[in-house]
Amino acid sequence: MSFNHAIIEKNAIILAVCTLITVAIGGLVQIVPLFTIEQTIERVDGVRPYSPLELAGRNIYVREGCYVCHSQQIRPFRDEIERYGHYSLAAESMYDHPFQWGSKRNGPDLARVGGKYSDAWHKAHMIDPRAVVPESIMPAYAFMADRPLDYSDIDAHLRTLKLIGVPYTDEMIANARADVEAQKNPDADTSGLLKRYPRAVVSSFDGEPGKVTELDAVIAYLQMLGTLVDFRNVKPEQLRQ
Ligand code: HEC
Repeated sequence: MSFNHAIIEKNAIILAVCTLITVAIGGLVQIVPLFTIEQTIERVDGVRPYSPLELAGRNIYVREGCYVCHSQQIRPFRDEIERYGHYSLAAESMYDHPFQWGSKRNGPDLARVGGKYSDAWHKAHMIDPRAVVPESIMPAYAFMADRPLDYSDIDAHLRTLKLIGVPYTDEMIANARADVEAQKNPDADTSGLLKRYPRAVVSSFDGEPGKVTELDAVIAYLQMLGTLVDFRNVKPEQLRQ
């Protein structure tokens, strides 16, 4: 131990001051880059907040712990890109609270599962995964088909997300419940819904028109995953804007 160090260790005040300086430097190194976070996440055309029905489905996804087996983050490796599609961009999960990147894949990555299967496939798969994939180890979620979706407070969910920075407008919040019903009804006037949430998939999802079930919400969520950004039009220089 050097002589100088002994002085520091034997004098409580000098030790406290030196500790403070060291912690302050460490703190600055961690905190200062966060001031530029706005420029760190590249904005990409097409990314929008979830429609109320998709959001309800996402809440069920979180509630059921689907993330325990499924990641939503395609890493920039050739094998992943060939299997799942374009690697995930930070902007694609910018409105996720909390994000669903995940750290475990007992099942496939779901970041771009939207549009890969029909609604009917998802319905059959959620009710009994082994009916469509005989070797599947995924649990069955048949109860979702019978459970009515509770969306009485969906506007409060939008309002809460708005508080933490998701750009839901007052119009979106006011129409939240009506938008849940419109997205489930292909015969409804969906012009308002599609203006507020471009590319939202309008469908009867579980094939049974009328009451909105938890299964409807989960399928609506799965069918939009990875569909917002048109990667044919995304050039590397755009990603840096
Ligand atoms: C115990 C692990 C486990 C859990 C929990 C789980 N899954 Fe799966 N999932 C799998 C496995 C394994 C597969 C691949 C076999 C299959 O298709 O069933 C899969 C496949 C899927 C697929 C098809 C993906 C593709 O590209 O083929 C979807 C969609 C899916 N799961 C959705 C869900 C949802 C939604 C939940 C939560 C309600 C969930 N999973 C919970 C293990 C799981």
